[in-house]
Amino acid sequence: MHIELENVRKSFGPKHVLNGLSLKVEKGKSLVVIGGSGTGKSVMLKCILGILQPDSGSIKIAGENAVGLRGEARDKFLARFGMLFQGGALFDSISVWENVAFGLMQGRHTPRAKAREIAMEKLVLVGLSADVGKLYPAELSGGMQKRVGLARAIAADPEIIFFDEPTTGLDPIMADVINNLIVDCVKRLGATTISITHDMASARKIADDIAMIYKGEIIWQGPAKMIDRSGNPYVDQFILGRADGPIKMDVLKA
Ligand SMILES: Nc1ncnc2c1ncn2[C@@H]1O[C@H](COP(=O)(O)OP(=O)(O)O)[C@@H](O)[C@H]1O
Ligand SMILES: [Mg+2]
Repeated sequence: MHIELENVRKSFGPKHVLNGLSLKVEKGKSLVVIGGSGTGKSVMLKCILGILQPDSGSIKIAGENAVGLRGEARDKFLARFGMLFQGGALFDSISVWENVAFGLMQGRHTPRAKAREIAMEKLVLVGLSADVGKLYPAELSGGMQKRVGLARAIAADPEIIFFDEPTTGLDPIMADVINNLIVDCVKRLGATTISITHDMASARKIADDIAMIYKGEIIWQGPAKMIDRSGNPYVDQFILGRADGPIKMDVLKA
């Protein structure tokens, strides 16, 4: 298994966010995690990356423990990952190419000229002209910013990529363009990926496997083509987008 989480728990004070979450992703496969807002999806990714420390449970990457790494071990670990954050998270004060090349220059000490060359290549791969590299993030449309975020995520040819809601805030056509780019880039790299989305069209497009998170646990995982026949009422309610069903919105309970 390339990525394996077992019984991971994470609370913030009295708030239990991950409640014994377990999942597995095989090397080169794409897992899409679906689930409502606030169910712990981003917290799960942050625990894998060590941005947050799980309270208990095990996280393994290619069989090696990923929890509690420090110093050089942590730098080496992070160098294996690319990440497209929710909302893009580009740095406003540096140019587009510097954003793409940031991890290459900071984390890997790639010389500036070489990093710039790689950044320009990656921009072209995501369908932007190299001219865009000189612009600043604020000068770009939402769809272009997502492309830049994707170029940054793949800049160092990572073995694992996380996509946190890559299409949120895009119109359906631009979302489909980004999904196609994700599929192409991931195939080209042979990377293992975890993507988070609440958009089922995206999930169906990107996923080999789909997992549904509910209240900090994975309540169903299976091949994407089985999602319509999961036999799980929570999954059915989610994919059909129904207000009625076993998932109760907290607002309705209040
Ligand atoms: N650093 C934090 N401190 C306290 N609470 C947090 C923190 N990060 C996330 N949470 C809470 O954990 C829950 C799950 O958050 P998150 O994983 O971001 O949800 P989502 O599934 O929408 O990505 C939310 O209720 C959120 O408020
Ligand atoms: Mg989130």
